[in-house]
Amino acid sequence: MLNLGILISGRGSNMESILNYLRENRTVDICPKIIISSKPEAEGLRRASKFGIPTRVVYNDSKGWDYDSEIVNVLQEYNVNPENGLVCLAGYMRLLSPEFVQKYKMRILNIHPSLLPSFPGLNSQKKALDYGVKVTGCTVHFVDEGLDSGPIIAQKHVLVSDNDTCETLSDRILEQEHILYPYCVQLFSKNRISIQGRKVIVN
Ligand code: GAR
Repeated sequence: MLNLGILISGRGSNMESILNYLRENRTVDICPKIIISSKPEAEGLRRASKFGIPTRVVYNDSKGWDYDSEIVNVLQEYNVNPENGLVCLAGYMRLLSPEFVQKYKMRILNIHPSLLPSFPGLNSQKKALDYGVKVTGCTVHFVDEGLDSGPIIAQKHVLVSDNDTCETLSDRILEQEHILYPYCVQLFSKNRISIQGRKVIVN
């Protein structure tokens, strides 16, 4: 059994898609243990309460490992450990410290709203639109010490149309995110992922 911790900062729709997936697919061997938010006002906290999963807010001015060690303490309190745990970043708007990444090495996943390595960082949908790309999408990847730079597990593409606004494009990408993230979590839980250098092989 894999113990799951989800880190959020806002709306929490990707968190919800993972929790819905786990509720509908009881054979998947993952137990959601704790939702941690970096923001007290995150809408995702309200969404999480519908699932009866414990939530915690870690909101303060500390930075780097000072902050992340508080997150790790909460994860471990709920038995989400490097040996038996998976940490999913779902709209979590903080860069992780190297200490956190090393501690949960290859056990932290993130979803990003572009086809990485294009458009890392913030406002990726706007950057894609402004650049004029015809295809964008979303990516689930392992978290490493860089910004949206870890090994890519899977991607889904979304066509950009001439009359897209940032909002219409973001909505269509989000629909694909909600399919892609539970799929990758499920792959991880079934040990179907192996890594060769930067390359993720799905068995
Ligand atoms: C999602 O589009 C996610 O890909 C993006 O924030 C949104 C969160 O939505 N994440 C990033 O940009 C991370 N760099 P949600 O809170 O409804 O899941």
